[in-house]
Order: sequence, then C-alpha cells, then structure tokens
Amino acid sequence: MEPFRIKAVEPIPFPTPDQRRTALANAGYNLFRVPARAITIDLLTDSGTNAMSAAQWSALLSGDESYAGATSFERFEAVVRHLTGYDEVIPVHQGRAAERILLGSLLRPGDISVSNTHFDTTRASVAATGATAIDLPVDTSTSTSFGGDIDLDALHALLDGQDGAHVRCVVLTVTNNAGGGQPVSMANVAGARALCNAFDVPLLLDASRFAENAYLITERDPDHAHYSPREVAHLTFSLADGCWASLKKDGVGNIGGMIALRDAELARRCRDQLIAVEGFPTYGGLAGRDLDALAQGLQEVTDPAYLRYRAQSTRWFGEQLLDAGLPVLLPTGCHAVYVDAAALLPHVPTHQLPATALANELYLAGAVRVSELGTLVFGRRDPGGGPDLPAPRELVRLALPRRVYTKSHLEYVVEVAAGVVAKAAEIPGYRIVEQADTLRHFSAVLAPA
Ligand code: F0G
Repeated sequence: MEPFRIKAVEPIPFPTPDQRRTALANAGYNLFRVPARAITIDLLTDSGTNAMSAAQWSALLSGDESYAGATSFERFEAVVRHLTGYDEVIPVHQGRAAERILLGSLLRPGDISVSNTHFDTTRASVAATGATAIDLPVDTSTSTSFGGDIDLDALHALLDGQDGAHVRCVVLTVTNNAGGGQPVSMANVAGARALCNAFDVPLLLDASRFAENAYLITERDPDHAHYSPREVAHLTFSLADGCWASLKKDGVGNIGGMIALRDAELARRCRDQLIAVEGFPTYGGLAGRDLDALAQGLQEVTDPAYLRYRAQSTRWFGEQLLDAGLPVLLPTGCHAVYVDAAALLPHVPTHQLPATALANELYLAGAVRVSELGTLVFGRRDPGGGPDLPAPRELVRLALPRRVYTKSHLEYVVEVAAGVVAKAAEIPGYRIVEQADTLRHFSAVLAPA
C-alpha cells in the first residue's frame, strides 16, 4: 500500500463521451493538444506531475531568492554532491536544457554520441550540434531483467571501428525510458566504464530516473540485493564521469534539472552557456524555492519503502492491464506500463500510427490520457515523400505520476482498457495533416485515416 496518506486533494474532471469526442477532434487528434480540464486520469507523463511531500512544501518557504549565491543553491549543491560524488553542480530549469548545454559544450559537427537509447529530447540536442546519435540497445529477447542495457559488444565494435575516433561520449539513460523503462544493470555500467577507459571517451548518465534504476537493480540482481537503493545509486554515479537529469522525475519536483560533473573545465564551458540561456549559475532558471523542494525530493526518492511501493504498484497495474487483454511489455519497470499497440491493432499499418490509434481510443473511452511512443515520436519522414519510416516498436506508455493516483484510479483505467480491447478490431488509424521538423509529436495535427 501507499507509504503515505493524502493531505491536499484536487478535483478531477469527468467529461462526457460527447465532450471527449469534441475535445479530441478540436485537438487535431493529438492528446498533447487536449486541455487538462478534459482529462480524467492523466498518464501522459511522470514528468513534473509528481505530488510533493509536506516536507517539500515546507522547504519552499525556506527558499532564498537572492540572484547570486543563494543558500538554496548551497543546500541543493550539497545534496547533489553527496548523492553523485560529482563536485560541479549546475542547476537548470529542466532536463532538455541540461542536454542542450552539456551536449552543446561537448559535441562538434561530425562527432558521435552513443547510448543505450537517447531519449527524444536528447537526440534532438545531439542533432542540434551537428553530431550523430547512435542507439545500441541490448537485444531484449536475451536480457529480460536488464532490458535497458547497452549492447557492449556493439559498443566495443563501434569504438574499435573506423568511426571510433568520432565517438565523443557514451550515454547511459537510466532507466531506459524510450526502451520500455527498463533498468541498466551494474555490470553493464561497469562494462561501459571499462570500454570508455580503454578508448578514452567520457561516460555520462542521463540520470532522470536514477532512483528507480537503483531500486530495480536491488530487486533483480542478487549481487546487489543487500544494498540500499541509495548505495546502488552512489555506485552507479561513481562509475561515470558525470550526468544530467530532469529533476521532474526522480527529483520528485514539478520543475527542475541539473548537470553534475567531475570535469571542472567542461563545467566552466557549461556555465558560460548557462548564463546565456538559463540564468546565473546558482539558480539556472529556477526559483530558490524550487531548488529547496528538489533538494528535499532527491533525499526522499531513495527511501526503500517509497521505491518498493512504486515498483509494486506499477507491477500490479501491468498485471491488471494484461488480464484486461492489453499486450503489456514484461517485466514492468517503475515509471510506466508499456503496451505493444501493433500487437493489439494488427490491422493498422505503421504509417497510420497504431500507437496513436490506441492512445486516442483510451481517451475516447474514458478520458484517460497516455502517450504514444511509436512512429509519431520515433518514426521519420521519408526524404522521398513516401510513407513515414516506422519506429522500431509501436508502444503506448501509461506513465504513473509519483504519489498522485490511488489503486481505485488505476482500477478505473483497467476498466476503460478492457472496453477498448473488446472493440480493438474497429479502431481506426490516423494520418498526419501538419507536422514540425523536430519533436513533431508535441504539435502535430492528425485526422482519422
Ligand atoms: N531524459 C529522459 C530519459 C527523459 O525521460 C526526459 C523527459 C528528458 C531527458 C527530458 O527532460 O522533460 O525535463 O526536459 N521525459 C518526459 C517523459 C518528457 O514524458 O518521459 P525534461
């Protein structure tokens, strides 16, 4: 059960079927464009949607809003240094600002960034520098416990091959959000470290879900079963040269991000950029009170009781959705349940966006909002003007905001999902009517195919 009780509540809307149909059509069939007042259960993201604790709300009041050298920054810096072991701590307003600044300070045109999987904003930041992002995820049919691992053989071959000299960083996204929210194992982090040493390349973590990764290691790896999640997190950070993170996830905040590094020279270049685009280095686009809430959140998030509840409730939700007939990816991680929309909707071809089709149907059936992680997000336009090049998988993600929804909210989602499964064969595909050049899923306008 939840290791907390509820102190402040917020009403949720219950739009009628007609209102849902109108809201979706007015939104160009893109759930990002549906107003929150038309959503009953919002599983679009676990990012920035967390419920803060009483201690975090109380920390807001101690926020020091001095422009330079605020004590809030000193508290934040101390917590991050203690957690990561990295001396250089740079706050930013959210994860993608960290990516822009750090990757922009590291990469040049022609360089390569290689990862278990770059998240979409990370990939966009790599591309913005003129570098190339290469994903080398492990074959998940052979690694079920640690499906977030990077393929170390493929990484070795890349570093040792003709493009090896262009590799400027190895990035491990923990947990691997785009790859089903699966954890990266300690052995994999150590293996990547050894290769980075051998080829003199920095190893960086996208640590947005570092606590969930650490907890899943304690659950799935007998060698680390007796460590606390915080100890596993320390070990993980100790094997890398630095990290960035969106603190809207495991910072348990509503806004925030950070860069933390060992390399003082790289940190200096990042701070120069930071001043140009985010703010002075002791606030980086955040209010002092945000830094205090995040400092508190970063301490709470490794609480074993909280992480056990987080992993168990997500696993329970996944099992219920599986029983309802959705093709759920197993094992579930912590922050979301992923569903294979292509398996449920074999009649919808990839260029008609099966993941979008399933997501939109969940909305129509019960005002449940989820996100598509299929061809709309990860597919690419055909330069020849043909149908889109499909994403590797057509996934739908039901993300769980931290400490927000109770078991009965999720039971409602399971009921809605069962209704959608019953009429799967009738669910239509979609076509793209308008799209941006990058990160098109946030703004695209669609129409039923
Ligand atoms: N890295 C990972 C692994 C992420 O999941 C995200 C955001 C970011 C970086 C970017 O951070 O949003 O603070 O700028 N993921 C959100 C999601 C949007 O819904 O998964 P941000």
